[in-house]
Amino acid sequence: MDIFMLFPVIIVLSVTCIFLYTLTCNRSSMTVPPSPPKLPIIGNLHQLLGKSRHEALWQLSKQYGPVMQILIGSKQFLIISSPMTAKQVLKTQDHIFCSRPMSHAVQRLTYNYSDVAFAPHSDHWREMRKLLVSEFLGPKKAHLFNHVLMMEIESIVRSIELHPSNAAVNLNELFFATIKGVMCKMAFGNNYRRQPLKGPSLEVMIYEVQGMLGGWLGDNFPGLLGRIIDLFSGWNRKLQKCFSNLDAYIDTIIDDHYNQSVAEVSDDDKDFVHSLLELSLKEDVDRHPLTREDVKALIMDVIIGGIDTTVVTMVWAMSEIVRSDRVMQKLQSEIRSGIRRKQKVDEDDIIKMTYLKMVVKETLRLHPPAPLLMPHESLSHCQIESYDVAPRTIALINAWGMGRDPRIWGENAAEFYPERFENFEVDFEMLPFGGGRRSCPAVNTSPATVELVIANLLYSFNWEVGDGMKNGDLNMQEVVGSLVARKNLPLCLVPTKYNQEE
Ligand code: HEM
Repeated sequence: MDIFMLFPVIIVLSVTCIFLYTLTCNRSSMTVPPSPPKLPIIGNLHQLLGKSRHEALWQLSKQYGPVMQILIGSKQFLIISSPMTAKQVLKTQDHIFCSRPMSHAVQRLTYNYSDVAFAPHSDHWREMRKLLVSEFLGPKKAHLFNHVLMMEIESIVRSIELHPSNAAVNLNELFFATIKGVMCKMAFGNNYRRQPLKGPSLEVMIYEVQGMLGGWLGDNFPGLLGRIIDLFSGWNRKLQKCFSNLDAYIDTIIDDHYNQSVAEVSDDDKDFVHSLLELSLKEDVDRHPLTREDVKALIMDVIIGGIDTTVVTMVWAMSEIVRSDRVMQKLQSEIRSGIRRKQKVDEDDIIKMTYLKMVVKETLRLHPPAPLLMPHESLSHCQIESYDVAPRTIALINAWGMGRDPRIWGENAAEFYPERFENFEVDFEMLPFGGGRRSCPAVNTSPATVELVIANLLYSFNWEVGDGMKNGDLNMQEVVGSLVARKNLPLCLVPTKYNQEE
């Protein structure tokens, strides 16, 4: 039978199922959260079209409240839009909302959920997270991390000094090269400035993998319907290609390490892959044996989760700083008066720079790179406010909306005003790194990285938009891909060397 002849049958079956489901729900005594009106089969999908998801959900939450339920296909989503309800999900009921939803793409790209970020809640996830923290992000590696970061910063400052005068520098490219350099050196011992393989560049690969991990329409429709959507949209083919590129890249890195003798590398110089391979050879009764797939999945998390989030934050920070003469002058004065006649700003100098910290915080308030965090899935039935929430409901927390809500931040909520943090103790009002046991394990290291790079660029140079434009006219429009980045055009600014004798 022609496959298209099946469509009417599928539609009739789906409508019947939804009708029966609605009847059953109405009879139950559950108090479900308010929900916008739904259409058969697609649920609330039509209300999310044409805008970014976080913006559309924020608008709906103004009408339906801070705990709202929406249906996409057959999947229930709980939309959380206030600090108090976010606290219930990420703190009070964290033990229930600590899992992640499963999907075909996630299963493939994470080597069957072997990673940290997308793994369902399990002992395996706990062990992998512990390894990521102890062998990559934790205090044991902090010294090496700062050393590598300072070397990359020196190299970008030199490259800007050699840039033709009055010509704009592409800061998106510069930040990507810097953070890629640091992450690759820390994780793989090589900054892979040159592409190790013939496939797409790391930048393109990150973009493609993030897009696939971010979810797909077919995931929301059960059984045959979902599979038909996947098949006819070419999604399966795209997923396979994306996985092959990623897997080949990671295989090259691991094979390079197998060809080296780990015994010759001092403990201080061991990179993340060395440490993981060494652990995979050790027998430990307290731990499951670490497989090659586990090592690959952890490398995937570092490449896909660690680089772009940091780069996007730096681009937003520089854009906001340059747009406001007042902020730029105040920040430069703090940095320059704090470290007279030194060549560079280092991590010890940063500790005293309170305004710099507020500037980075304010950037993350207005521009959290993951506006709805990562989805949290509930393990069992629970109540949020007085509403019943069914098991396997996916909670999306609107960090973007809360970060801009005038009820929390006052009338100047939309303004970039770092001084607001002088009198504001943050609890659950802004959540750029999420919260609870699934919060970002780089919550302390990443802001410090952003601070150090920005401080050095503002110490050594003055910056302008160029092309005869006023700094205040810089376009701040968002573009939504897998992360919320600054509009499609890269951030290009003109540097002028600062004379320390001035
Ligand atoms: C400015 C930089 C970064 C931002 C804004 C950021 C943001 C986030 C957010 C919003 C989440 C989801 C939290 C939740 O679901 O509640 C997350 C999770 C995660 N992030 Fe980050 N991140 C950044 C940098 C990094 C870096 C550098 C790494 C590692 C190298 C990293 C690794 C992870 C991992 C592994 C998870 C999943 C944790 C889990 O599920 O247990 N992130 N991050």
